[in-house]
Amino acid sequence: MFRQALFPEQASTIAARTDALLFFLLGITAFFVCLIAGLILYFMVRYRRRSSDEVGAPTHLSLGLEVLWSGIPFVLAMVVFFWGASIFASLNRAPDDALQVYVVGKQWMWKIQHVEGRREINELHVPTGRPVRVVMTSEDVIHSFFVPAFRVKQDAVPGRYTMTWFQATRPGTYHLFCAEYCGTLHSGMIGSVVVMEPAAYEAWLAGGGTSGVSVAAAGETVFQAQGCPTCHAPDGSGRGPSLVGVFGSTVELRDGRRVVADEGYLRESVVNPQAKIVAGYEPIMPTYQGLVDEEALMQLIAYIKSLQTPTAAAERGK
Ligand code: CUA
Repeated sequence: MFRQALFPEQASTIAARTDALLFFLLGITAFFVCLIAGLILYFMVRYRRRSSDEVGAPTHLSLGLEVLWSGIPFVLAMVVFFWGASIFASLNRAPDDALQVYVVGKQWMWKIQHVEGRREINELHVPTGRPVRVVMTSEDVIHSFFVPAFRVKQDAVPGRYTMTWFQATRPGTYHLFCAEYCGTLHSGMIGSVVVMEPAAYEAWLAGGGTSGVSVAAAGETVFQAQGCPTCHAPDGSGRGPSLVGVFGSTVELRDGRRVVADEGYLRESVVNPQAKIVAGYEPIMPTYQGLVDEEALMQLIAYIKSLQTPTAAAERGK
């Protein structure tokens, strides 16, 4: 019980690194608490006033001491900073070969969609040994996707996409919590992450409940239904820019800015098209806010992502 509270289960590659930093911080904190409190107690006794006419001796500034007790905390703070920054940086950059999972938080559930099309609610199945990139947003208020055993916590914010990733190391079932107070049933917004051996995961993915429609294909349906191809012709002849190869590229805007077309950019371009107008185009696109919900938006973006080459676009068009 005590051991479990002090050393909670580590089930991802980042968990041990996070814990090591935490224990280092706890260690130096404990060391200085003991050192300072101990010295205070010792000096209280050792240098106590023994008679009422006793006067303390004057003290002199010691440069050596000043340098020492400024230098040591500085070095320690820098160690903690660079150590923490390196973990933060790895948490912020998912490996390129990561599996992609889309998560929508909603009062009060987690809606999860795998790239291949399988959907889940309050459950997330993942394989061991592969990085999993979780792209999330919220349909209403701020939620927070928290898997303690993975040491991963990321807010899901309405109106934007946030990302975290993990690589599970051990099969098992782990808690998934909402870690941001989000209303009456916040405490009930819990689920589980089921980590499976890769073969079992493949079987699960192919198994029941799947519509057989990938997220990108579902996105294409939305794309057609909303009439997007009318303006966004793949060959760039439409009134809007072609979306082929746009994901991940650098887009030049009318006002001279250059932005990277990531998920957040694509999302904004659908719900608030006037925010960033691509150079050479007129600000004529209407907003699709309210016409496509968050899940459909994620599908649309997955579809646009899949249009990486004209050939792929043509294939998709068939
Ligand atoms: Cu969702 Cu708390």
